[in-house]
Amino acid sequence: MHDILVIGAGIAGLTVALKAAENGMSVLLLTKGAKPDGSTNYAQGGIAAVTSPEDTFESHIADTLEAGDGLCKKKQVEILTKNAPNAIEQLIKWGVNFTTVKDDANSFDLHLEGGHSFRRILHTADLTGKEIMRALLAKLKQHSKGIDFIERSTVLDLLMQKSRCVGAIVAEQNAKKARAIYAKTVVLATGGAGQLWLHSTNPPDACGDGFSMAYRIGAELQDLEFMQFHPTSLYAPQLRKTFLISEAVRGFGGILKNHKGKEFMNDVHPLRSLAPRDIVARAILREMQLTGKDYMYLDVTHRKAKDIKTHFPNIYAKCLECKIDIAKDWIPVVPAAHYMCGGVLVDSFSRTTINGLYACGEVSATGVHGANRLASNSLLESVVFALRACKDIEKNCLNPDFKLSTLNSQLSTTRDVRKLKKEVQTIMWEHCGIVRSMDGLKIGLEKLKKLEKGATFEFRNFLESAKLVMESALKRKESRGLQCLTDYPEKNPKYLKHYTIKRK
Ligand code: FAD
Ligand code: SIN
Repeated sequence: MHDILVIGAGIAGLTVALKAAENGMSVLLLTKGAKPDGSTNYAQGGIAAVTSPEDTFESHIADTLEAGDGLCKKKQVEILTKNAPNAIEQLIKWGVNFTTVKDDANSFDLHLEGGHSFRRILHTADLTGKEIMRALLAKLKQHSKGIDFIERSTVLDLLMQKSRCVGAIVAEQNAKKARAIYAKTVVLATGGAGQLWLHSTNPPDACGDGFSMAYRIGAELQDLEFMQFHPTSLYAPQLRKTFLISEAVRGFGGILKNHKGKEFMNDVHPLRSLAPRDIVARAILREMQLTGKDYMYLDVTHRKAKDIKTHFPNIYAKCLECKIDIAKDWIPVVPAAHYMCGGVLVDSFSRTTINGLYACGEVSATGVHGANRLASNSLLESVVFALRACKDIEKNCLNPDFKLSTLNSQLSTTRDVRKLKKEVQTIMWEHCGIVRSMDGLKIGLEKLKKLEKGATFEFRNFLESAKLVMESALKRKESRGLQCLTDYPEKNPKYLKHYTIKRK
């Protein structure tokens, strides 16, 4: 019996596992794919923290609240921002190398991103997530006694006994059977849900499994209507996977243009191309509709080729693969589903509303993002709140009083899961996308319900999470942050609250 079962090995799960093991607890870490999987590995822009003398916590707090459009939980935002320097220190202790200023190894090279009043984004070139995963996985090897790590293990359900979460049901890849795993404490760190939409920056394992599993055991979920669409994914139909063009490219001077070269963001927001993401994504979509084009452009050609290659080696190389030299050519871009601001409701120590169950990282709803996340606050949230979860678990890790029972259930597979997932993704893109309508949402939900019949384990969590998002979107009859409704185009103070979804 391990002290902690951690489900998911991105930045949130690895932070919990490493800190808990350092403090002498035993950990079982499970992940759906093979390491490194999850969104963390793809993070480009970086991690926000006040580290420069001219920047202040007050400013980071104000920018986060402004982006969140009235719905951030202020106390949680204060915890996030004020603990950011410690979180960075912890990552560095674990071996993460952030890019420093040329000729000054003691100063971070800070990037600027949309909605931030100061340069405060620490990064490792444009491969920040890869560097974080490299360092944390290397550190994990040093704890081979304290942490058992099993890859290719998909958790299908959480186990409850006497109103406490006591473990999970797990299917190992290619196994036709599922087994029960028990632990004193369970931490959900299953990441986001971008894969529920047809076009997404997220990797294949970001299917929202954590939302539906937590929902089924009675946990409260919050703010699921706020899916953030990143304004600039590369428009390259020849690529099998969507590729992100980091917001840091706009922070570096990149300008959004239409096909005639018009800088259309000038008429939309005082921050122009660096306006908050929700505003930029909608403006791009509108310009695409007005001009009848499938994409818009991001132009960074006015910057020196040498600087572009130094700051964005990964983006430069990927675009070149697609025959776009970003030092000379405008980059074709289009919005894509990127980040789930809501999730499983947690308090300031990452405790869910279910005893024994914690949630950290993108799967959780800490309330720091409100109706729209400020860029680069997500990696930060994952570390800050995972460290806080560890503190609490240490104090409250009970010797359980429950029956262990073995489970050896035979798994039946749904027919053609890939095809069914594509149906869900298309419904979500059409009916629960960047701009929504109440009728569209209702039709979408009905279409999802029709897919329920015969859904077995592989598909059930996917479909259920999509339905939870759609149901959440139907509750908010106003346009705020990432929820943009044609029938309710204005903010309505009546709806200045969080909507919670809980199984009846
Ligand atoms: P993840 O890193 O997604 O890890 C989830 C883990 O859970 C994976 O190991 C997965 O296999 C596992 N899992 C899922 N379901 C199951 C299951 N049923 N059973 C077992 N295991 C399961 N944020 C920033 O702050 N800055 C950035 O620069 C930035 N850039 C981004 C770029 C891209 C392309 C993307 C997609 C996201 C970016 N984000 C960024 C968002 C950020 O990367 C994520 O929010 C963050 O990494 C989430 O970390 P996590 O640990 O919660 O989840
Ligand atoms: C990006 O690099 O644009 C992604 C940053 C984020 O999602 O916070």
